[in-house]
Amino acid sequence: MQAYLDILNRAVADYSRGDRPVVQAPAASELQQILDLSLQQEGADLDVLEQAVQDYLHYNPDSAQADYFKLLYSGRNNAALLGDWITSLSNATMHTYQVGPVATLMELELIKNWNSLVGFNEGDGLMVSGGSQANLIGMMLARHKVCPEFKTRGADGRRLIAYVSDQAHYSAQKAVNVLGIGSDNLVAVATDDEGRMCPQALEAAIEESLAAGHQPFYISLTAGTTVVGAFDPVLECRAVADKYDLWLHIDGAWGAPVLFSEQSRHLLANSGLADSFAWDAHKLMNVPITAAVILVREAGLLKECFSGGGGEYLFHADENAAFNLGERSMQCGRRADSLKVWLSWKALGYKGFAAKIDHLQGLKSLCVSQIEQTDRLEMIAPAEYLNVVFRFKPEGIDDEQTLRRLNIAITKTMMRNGGAYVDYAQYKGRSGIRLILANDAAQAGNIERFLQACVTTGEQLVASGEY
Ligand SMILES: Cc1ncc(COP(=O)(O)O)c(C=O)c1O
Repeated sequence: MQAYLDILNRAVADYSRGDRPVVQAPAASELQQILDLSLQQEGADLDVLEQAVQDYLHYNPDSAQADYFKLLYSGRNNAALLGDWITSLSNATMHTYQVGPVATLMELELIKNWNSLVGFNEGDGLMVSGGSQANLIGMMLARHKVCPEFKTRGADGRRLIAYVSDQAHYSAQKAVNVLGIGSDNLVAVATDDEGRMCPQALEAAIEESLAAGHQPFYISLTAGTTVVGAFDPVLECRAVADKYDLWLHIDGAWGAPVLFSEQSRHLLANSGLADSFAWDAHKLMNVPITAAVILVREAGLLKECFSGGGGEYLFHADENAAFNLGERSMQCGRRADSLKVWLSWKALGYKGFAAKIDHLQGLKSLCVSQIEQTDRLEMIAPAEYLNVVFRFKPEGIDDEQTLRRLNIAITKTMMRNGGAYVDYAQYKGRSGIRLILANDAAQAGNIERFLQACVTTGEQLVASGEY
């Protein structure tokens, strides 16, 4: 064990120096040539393993750095990291209380706290592998509610219809596929200019399904859309859901943490009116992947929907039976993700998460105002949350395809030069750079340098014509 701990110590010390480029991954085919990843009959020595660890970290983008703006998570959460290591040390699994006692109680405590933030006073929930699984479970609960026989008899000729906004995460497409609903039965409801679902369009889509003789069953709103960070209107869509007696889910994978912040909570007003709610701790709460939860307003429904099997050998009817979370899960073995979330929540407190969001919202406002004040930069979507979608648009270039190529080239050039790591995206037909503010180590200087680099890189590319 000690020799492995020494490798870990050296790797951590080296990795956390933070003096590396944010990203330096060569193309996959090139990296395949650089690294020897072959496996042999004979086992290798420790120094071979240590070299592999070093290579792994060397080529992996450094998501902890303040200039990592690419994805919906960034930064380092040391308490959660400690939890992740201890979780692996214990190798607990979460089907029964007996094999993960503290993790089970921590998970239940977290669910209680998450539910109280969302406004589910009597709810329950379960930690899952991510927002995709949480969204799938939300849809499955809706299917169970409208059609409990689905569990035993399958679709039985029914055509169930689900509604999400045209900005919803693609996990909705996976869910209709996995659940046997079918992608033709997933309706993408129109959004307004801000990227929020239009309640009138939702109602019209439901009427259309009914007129076709189909059965609407599920509406999923997004709190913090993936590209522009929009929040769908809960109150208005709840009214539509009530009118047609439909399940209302909220995908808060990215935006849910606004509930920690007094200043930003209004974005998710009325969250407690939903029936289920997805929340990723591995995004803005910055807990190492994976850590997420599905919260359900009606306690007991998860178990009703998922239970089945395992009674003969696993789920014993003993004094801890009520604590066997496996009966409300689609997984058998399930990682004990609660420890890392609990430790970081304990370390930071509610106030720590609120302060993080407030800091990042402040940085977002600064970023937007700098973009608006810079001649060759323009916003291409409103930035209510922590997604800033903008582009470099020099005078004389108006063609959308040219602007797209140019802005993609800016992100790639910055990545190659070891500068900031950022992605590009498309919003309502316009392409630009998507900057995500998820790392509270980022300060005004990081934003100023980044925007300056966008302009300089853009100008160089225009001058050289190489895009
Ligand atoms: C709004 C939204 N929902 C769901 C997901 C999927 O979450 P996960 O990657 O945890 O499965 C994402 C991922 O980016 C997302 O942005």
